[in-house]
Amino acid sequence: MGGLEVEGLRAYYFPADRPPIRAVDGVSFELKGGSSIGFVGESGCGKSTLGLALLRLLPSPGRIVSGAVRLDGVDLMGLTEGEFGRSIRWRRISMVFQGAMNALSPVYTIGHQLSEPLIYRLGLSKGEARRLSIEALEEVGLGGDLMDRYPHELSGGMRQRVMIAMALALRPEILIADEPTTALDVIVQAQILNLLKDLRERLGISIMLLTHDLGVISEIADAIAVMYAGEIVELGPSDLIYSSPKHPYTKGLMAAAPRIRGGSKIASIPGHPPDLGNPPKGCRFGPRCSAAIPACERPPPMVELGAGHSVRCWLYG
Ligand SMILES: Nc1ncnc2c1ncn2[C@@H]1O[C@H](COP(=O)(O)OP(=O)(O)O)[C@@H](O)[C@H]1O
Ligand SMILES: [Mg+2]
Repeated sequence: MGGLEVEGLRAYYFPADRPPIRAVDGVSFELKGGSSIGFVGESGCGKSTLGLALLRLLPSPGRIVSGAVRLDGVDLMGLTEGEFGRSIRWRRISMVFQGAMNALSPVYTIGHQLSEPLIYRLGLSKGEARRLSIEALEEVGLGGDLMDRYPHELSGGMRQRVMIAMALALRPEILIADEPTTALDVIVQAQILNLLKDLRERLGISIMLLTHDLGVISEIADAIAVMYAGEIVELGPSDLIYSSPKHPYTKGLMAAAPRIRGGSKIASIPGHPPDLGNPPKGCRFGPRCSAAIPACERPPPMVELGAGHSVRCWLYG
């Protein structure tokens, strides 16, 4: 029973004067110990909300509405905030936040920024925090001498490694990496992806990669979850998703990822993801789907296709 199980997770934002924004709306998946899953979907599909909900760090007015989250069979939803903070967050499940590498403070050293949360948030001694910080820097291929450097002295790729080191400091079993390669050039992207792959192989860490770019997960994801408008619309082993995508949205994403098909033509999916405060009543992708049929006016169920592959689409129901 090793790993993370998420069942029917709903996380909404509740603006004062508008209907709730259903950012994560009934998401279920499993992440086995030591494996990796890539969540892919356009911006606004709920990927970051999912990661933040799993870490119980949703910004206000966000809230987990329902669902079950189990780690090695233990129900995490039953834990109080204090228990979750002491035993789960950063220690067993950790996260590299979207855009965080650009949020390092220019006025403090890397060492200070790595150690400080360990001291103030988690109560470690100064010496212990320093030791763990240096170890974490070495784990991500950076030297301990970086402790005394300032962020402006580092390249983008090095800053992203620092963020990964921060997330690894307490040796978590699960690392959620939210758009870890966005805004990096292609060569540095590949280096960061190799690092994640290496961490998984060397430390046995499970990785949950969140990205809008299907091209970046092909290398490291054992499984792929395609997200659209707060829901998983296709889920399965990555080789199956790549060789035999079923959902019209997945097919559209494939066509828009030139690195996978080797072609140069980028076909984009017409239209935009819906307003999650008022999503379409039937299939949420329906209004943009070129394969829509009358049944799509009702919400499609998740259909099992076998071999762990499932799709939320009436064409297969
Ligand atoms: N702090 C917030 N308050 C209100 N709505 C939010 C907030 N953060 C995200 N959302 C909304 O939740 C939806 C999902 O966003 P997000 O999880 O950031 O998606 P992704 O990471 O896939 O781009 C979007 O409609 C977004 O506008
Ligand atoms: Mg995001």
